[in-house]
Amino acid sequence: MKGVILAGGLGTRLRPLTLVTNKHLLPVYDRPMVYYPIQCLLNAGINEILVVTGGEHAGDFLKLLKNGKHLGCRELHYTYQEGEGGIADALKLAEDFADGGKIVVVLGDNIIEKNIRRPVADFFSQPTGGKILLKEVPDPERFGVARLDGDRVAEILEKPADPPTNLAVVGIYMYDNDVFEICRSLKPSGRGELEITDVNNEYIRRGDLTFGVLDGWWTDAGTFDSLRRACDLVAEGGANHAETPGPPAPAPAAGPG
Ligand code: G1P
Repeated sequence: MKGVILAGGLGTRLRPLTLVTNKHLLPVYDRPMVYYPIQCLLNAGINEILVVTGGEHAGDFLKLLKNGKHLGCRELHYTYQEGEGGIADALKLAEDFADGGKIVVVLGDNIIEKNIRRPVADFFSQPTGGKILLKEVPDPERFGVARLDGDRVAEILEKPADPPTNLAVVGIYMYDNDVFEICRSLKPSGRGELEITDVNNEYIRRGDLTFGVLDGWWTDAGTFDSLRRACDLVAEGGANHAETPGPPAPAPAAGPG
């Protein structure tokens, strides 16, 4: 399986820091933010990675990440999102890279303590569809929130004022190749973006979305408060730093998947 890191956007919630560089290159304790999602994929055995970026400072990624070999990537690719179309709009740019296969998508400002090896392996065995990860949080109204019906996700609500559960949708998503057709069919939300929550709700509508519960702490880092929290969590408890590599990513099956 291949990995996609979504690292575009203008980072308006972190101005003025993001006037001179991309949000995902800001420091989180002792390393640039984007190192964490890269390490998250590498720790799951995924070493072919596409970085989708955008904005005025996209060139800074190349200076830092180069060809990714020094970080452990086998192949590091880049692409550029024009404008501010949202997460699902950025994801469309990964279609050629995915080449008919499954992908693991990580938002560039999401940092986790442990690893996603188990859910990635489970998703590899899942014949079709998507898989999301949930995490109990004290402030679900800041995130996509899952409404459950028995043991399945019935609906995801994006930043609901009155969350039905405290189960936030983590910014790590696993999809089969249908995701690109779904992204193309979406209409912009109230904030004028193609929402990843609408992608996940379409998989739910098709009866083809599974979920796991993320192990260990998780934080985003896109606001001053969450960025400080991310720095503290990393400094105090480590994060998904380089681990003894797990088993290599399963070889792509013949044909899509
Ligand atoms: C995005 C998604 C949201 C998800 C969150 C995870 O929100 O829209 O569903 O829970 O990432 O970090 P954003 O950070 O773009 O506001």
